[in-house]
Parts: sequence; C-alpha cells; structure tokens
Amino acid sequence: MRVLGIETSCDETAVAVVEDDRTIRSSLVLSQLTEHAPFGGVVPEIAARAHLDHLDGLVARALADAGLRLEDLDAVAATGGPGLIGGVMVGVMTAKAIASVLGLPFLAVNHLEAHALTARLTDDVPFPYLLLLVSGGHCQLLAVAGVGRYRRYGTTIDDAVGEAFDKSAKLMGLGYPGGPAVERAATAATRPDRFVLPRPMTGRPGCDFSFSGLKTAVRQAVDALPPGPLDPADVADLCAALQASIAAVLVERTGRALDRFAGEFPEGRHLVVAGGVAANGAVRAALGGLAAARGLGFVAPPLALCTDNAAMVAWAGVERLRLGLVDGLDFAPRPRWPLDPDAPKAAGAGVKA
Ligand code: KG4
Ligand code: ZN
Repeated sequence: MRVLGIETSCDETAVAVVEDDRTIRSSLVLSQLTEHAPFGGVVPEIAARAHLDHLDGLVARALADAGLRLEDLDAVAATGGPGLIGGVMVGVMTAKAIASVLGLPFLAVNHLEAHALTARLTDDVPFPYLLLLVSGGHCQLLAVAGVGRYRRYGTTIDDAVGEAFDKSAKLMGLGYPGGPAVERAATAATRPDRFVLPRPMTGRPGCDFSFSGLKTAVRQAVDALPPGPLDPADVADLCAALQASIAAVLVERTGRALDRFAGEFPEGRHLVVAGGVAANGAVRAALGGLAAARGLGFVAPPLALCTDNAAMVAWAGVERLRLGLVDGLDFAPRPRWPLDPDAPKAAGAGVKA
C-alpha cells in the first residue's frame, strides 16, 4: 500500500510518498521562511498563495523522486486541519482532485495525529504510549491508545512552547523561527546560570502548561540590560536560561502525565516526543533522562520528521486506510480539530487548547 501525503497547514509546502511497510519513498519540504521572515511570523495570506504556487510542482517532483507515476498510488492523504485555513484548503483541494481523477480513496488527516503517529513510522512503537506534542501551535500531553484514540492530559493555557521560543527570540533580536536560533545562541553561553527565569506551572497539580510569563520574564531581562544593541554574550546566556527553563517545565509536566499514564495504561512502555520543538537537543536530552528514570523507552523522531513534513501525513493516511477510515470528497477543512474532543477545557485557556 502506497500513500501520497500533502501538508500545507502552516508555512511548509510538503509532499511525500510512504509505503505501508514504513518505507519513505520520497519526502520533500519547501519552506516559505524567506517569504515570511520580513514579517517576523507566518502571514496566512502569503502562506496560502505560496502553497498554491508550489504544490503541483512539488507533487510531480515527489513522484519523480520516488520513481512512481500517479497511477502507482493507492490513496491520497492531506492535512485537513487544524491550521491556517487558506493553506489547508489548498492541500485538501489538490488531494481531492488527484483522488477523484484516479478513483482513489481520499484521507483527511489531522495534523496533530500526523505528529502523534510519526513514532510508529520511524520506530514502529506499539500503542499505547505517552506523547508530548511540542510545536509552534501546540503544547499537549496525550495518551495515544490507538489511531483516532487519544486522551488529552494537558495543554497550554496560553502560548505554545514553540511560540515561547519564537517570541523570546524576537525580543532578543534573533531571527525567525526562534527555536533553532535560541538553540544555536545558547551553545555560546559562558554563564548559563546568570539569568534566573521562571518555570511556569511546575509544582501545580495537573499537566497543563503556560508560557506567556516566561516570554514576559525574557522581556524584563532584556530591558534590564544596558541600552543599545544587545551584547551577543548576554543573549547567549539568556538563551541558555530560556532553554533550561523550558526543558525543566516540559520534564516536570511530562513526569506528572507519566504518573497518570502508568495508572490508566499500565501496559504502556514508551514516552514519545513530536513536533518542531522536539528538534531541540536540550529538550530531547531532558526527556530522554526522564524516560530512562521511569524505565521507559524514549522515541524522538529524526529532526526532519519532527518539524512539519508530509511523510507523517502520508503515514497517518496509511494507518487510517488500514482501518478503513476513508473520508468523503465532501470533507470540509477544519481550522480547529482537537484530537480528544472530550477533554475538559483547560482553565484560562484561549483558542489553542
Ligand atoms: O511542528 P512545527 O514545524 O510546526 C508547527 O506545527 O507548529 O514546529 C515549529 C516550531 C517553531 O516554533 C520553531 O521555533 C520550533 O518548532 N523549533 C524549535 C527548534 N526547531 C524548531 N524549537 C526549539 N529548538 C529547535 N531546535
Ligand atoms: Zn506541526
């Protein structure tokens, strides 16, 4: 079984072909970074237009890379949400068109489910597992019991963790996206303990997150520095402190989630991290340490499969197709699409929860 995957929910146009034996035949990601960089963040209208400009060419290239023709496909999957709706529409319409011309099944994939199932593509991890999903738009702890079966243990009540990196980076004059820039700058820190930043929510019951206070603390630290251009040595120390705070928060919250997971899914043997922030070395190391201390296997996908890509979408398509979870061509793209619709709303949470 061979599935074409399309991802257009944010600022990456991506196309991939994945087999049900977990082979990635091709996986192409076209980043729109340069188009959005002047604005310091993703501009939805620019993103949608760029997806439209590039998607068909990228489909053709992904097939050529895989040595396949459209006729060799068994199904077409596209991210159906959540995400920037203009971009999601471009991907969904393209996938529907290909599926309808070829008479193939169409699969509308939840972007979060695509991140959630990546560990099964890369490492064949069995259900159930505890997932920490950390990206630019989300920060959630989920028990993954099966395809389409999620129990949300915690979510952010304000910013996603990727936003904490991105917004703090902007305050320090680092480029977008902020996560990689902060990680790079932190390697040059000479006094990583110099700045003491808060670790929001730690010690509190439950597994929810909050990151807006951390961003404010970074702003205050920057304001307290000598006026004028920032000294790269100060920025490096501040980035190290920010990264350490974020890693500590993620470990503390994930530890609590593991306590609950052990009670509800005693057969679970793995902690999995996914999403763009999972590319961060300090975060990976801290979570790996937590898993080891709990006697659990730790799975973090390779970097290229942590950030947005279409191989994860194609793979989620494979998993859904195997179960007969095919979608109709009347599927409507969804700007919001929670994995666990029954999860209680986090206290004080905004639209992201
Ligand atoms: O999963 P992703 O590619 O897109 C979303 O679905 O949001 O995640 C993007 C986020 C951005 O906030 C980016 O700053 C962050 O992941 N990120 C990182 C690193 N690489 C990407 N954060 C920390 N360290 C990194 N190395
Ligand atoms: Zn993502």
